[in-house]
Order: sequence, then structure tokens, then C-alpha cells
Amino acid sequence: MAQTLAPIRCAVLTGGGDCPGMNAFIRAVVRATLNLSPESTVYGVLDGWKGLVYNEYRPLGKRDVSGIAMLGGTILGTVRFPELATSQQLQERAARNLEEQGFDYLFVIGGNGSVKAAWALEQILRREGWRTRILVAPGSIDNDVCNNYGTSIGFYSALERSLEMLSWIRDTASSHRRVYLIRSMGRDSAYLAFYAGIIGGAEYAIRPHEEVDYERLAEVVAQRDRDTIIVVSEAYAKSLREIQQTLEDIFRRRGIEREIRAVDMSYFQRGGKASVTDILRASWLGYRMVCDALRGCSSGFYTAYYIGHLQDPLPLELAADDARTNHLDIPPEVIQMALALR
Ligand code: F6P
Repeated sequence: MAQTLAPIRCAVLTGGGDCPGMNAFIRAVVRATLNLSPESTVYGVLDGWKGLVYNEYRPLGKRDVSGIAMLGGTILGTVRFPELATSQQLQERAARNLEEQGFDYLFVIGGNGSVKAAWALEQILRREGWRTRILVAPGSIDNDVCNNYGTSIGFYSALERSLEMLSWIRDTASSHRRVYLIRSMGRDSAYLAFYAGIIGGAEYAIRPHEEVDYERLAEVVAQRDRDTIIVVSEAYAKSLREIQQTLEDIFRRRGIEREIRAVDMSYFQRGGKASVTDILRASWLGYRMVCDALRGCSSGFYTAYYIGHLQDPLPLELAADDARTNHLDIPPEVIQMALALR
């Protein structure tokens, strides 16, 4: 695409929980738009979907996004705004703002709340015959955004952070022959906790809705020479304290001499610099979306596989349908692999 293309007026928005890779996405959208179509204008929506409802933007130039690709968080800010999911009034207001601002495109990176918000606004925009098209990229450490189709941006960065933390804990756990219960984020999705467990060499990872056999888990601990790491998913029913209590009772009864400590790595998993994979995938998706927008594409959801990957975007209606596009538990073959490698 050597020639410059007709200008567009567009906005970029980061929604839901922040994740590493969001800044790389913002940078890609801004740079690609202004390099491929220099007369275009790009605005950043401040504080996510709330900023769209309250019309808060700032213009973004190429220099505003210098050096941000690897930074965690989002330079535009994000706010939890669950009201948007249920309030038709707020949705109408956000859609009207897009029209009144004259935005041709809204580029979004966010979790499944953002996909649903995009679909809600899309229906209003099409009903009214308004101009804005919405293009969405998956961004969440939970890997629960349309994950029948790729993995979300931010997931691999959070795994890298988890790997670091698990290795630190391993040092002290093995020195003291201790069992560590380590809480992981991930909401109802098992992915972050389970994959962190695999890469960190955990002896066990408890999935959100798992029926845990604690007698068996105590045996796993008893067979260990020194340290034991057990990663616990955020949505698992018992607290770390309750798990500790249950295991301590069994240890006492069965004469297993191990101390247990509990630690929560949750918010640390979401911070820090983006992984190479997430920077590349976020950059690629941002670039691809802009190329499609400059050709006048329709709204859609873009799958994040790998840099260079070209698959048609999914319709937002399909992307927003969790029953068809999302699975939250780990495929049985991966669980078998994890068990085989323990
Ligand atoms: O969706 C990402 C996530 O980090 C989840 O893993 C976690 O449940 C949630 O966000 C925490 O949200 P908040 O930052 O609003 O407490």
C-alpha cells in the first residue's frame, strides 16, 4: 500500500481491565492511520467506554505514541463501567456521540465486556444509519475473549509475569520445604491459572469449577521432596485460607509434615511490560484494522493469532455470543499433558 489513502476521522479506545499490549495497539492505530493517510485525524477516548459516553477525547499525533509499545497499562486510561451493559440510554448516548463527533471508525481493544458494548452500539448505529464502524481486538489477561478463535492480547504478558513470580516463590518454598498456595487472576476462565501452573512447573493448578480431591492433593504434596506450588484460579469456590485449613487437617491426620503459606499474585500479573508476542500481535492487529478501515470495511472483531495472520474478521454479533465463541475451561488434552509432565 504505497499510495496515501483518503482521510478518515477515527478514535481509539481501551476498555475493561487494562493489559499489556494495549499501548502497542494504540501506537499501531495512530501511526498506521497517520502514515498511510496523513490527512486523517486520530483521537484517544479517555477512560474507556465511560469517556465515550461523556465525550472525553484527546487528539493523538505520531509523537504522542513514541516509546509506548512495550509499556503495560494504557496511556488512555480505562474505567470499569458496567452500567453500559444494561442501560439503553447510555448506549444511545455513546452511539450518538460517535455520530456527532463525525468518527468514521472506532478502534477498540478490550475484553468480552467491550465486545458486547461494541455490538450494542453497532445495532444502534445501523438502526439509525449513522456512519461509525467499530473494529474490536481482544485484550485481556484472562484469555476469555472469543477464545475459540485465538488468544487475547495481554494473556502471554501475564503468563510471563506469573512465571517470574512463581520462580521467586519456588526459591523460598524449596528452602523451607513449604507448600505455597498461589492465587491467580483470570475470573471464570481457567486459562491464566492453569497455563501459569504449566510454565511455572506447579504441582497442581485448581480450575474455577473443579471438584478437588484434597486427599489426592495431600498425597501429591507428601511425595514431593521439598517444595510444592499449587496455583488457584480466581473463581475457585474456596478462599486460600479455606484451602489451607482443609489441607492442614489432612496433613495432621495423615502425619504429613509440611507448612503451608498463601500468597496472591493477582494484580501483579496484570502489570509490567508487554511480552514480545503481545507487542507483535497488538501491532499487527492495529495495523490491519487501519488498512481495512482505509478501504471502508464494516464493523467486526479481529482474531489475535500471530503477526502476519490474515483471517476475515468475525461479525460483532457472533463475537459477542459467548455460547458460540468462548470456552472457559482447559481442553482435556492439555490437562492430560499437564498431568503427564508433572
Ligand atoms: O478481566 C481482567 C481481570 O484482571 C480479571 O482477571 C479480574 O477478575 C478483574 O480483571 C479484576 O478487575 P478490577 O481491576 O476491576 O478489580
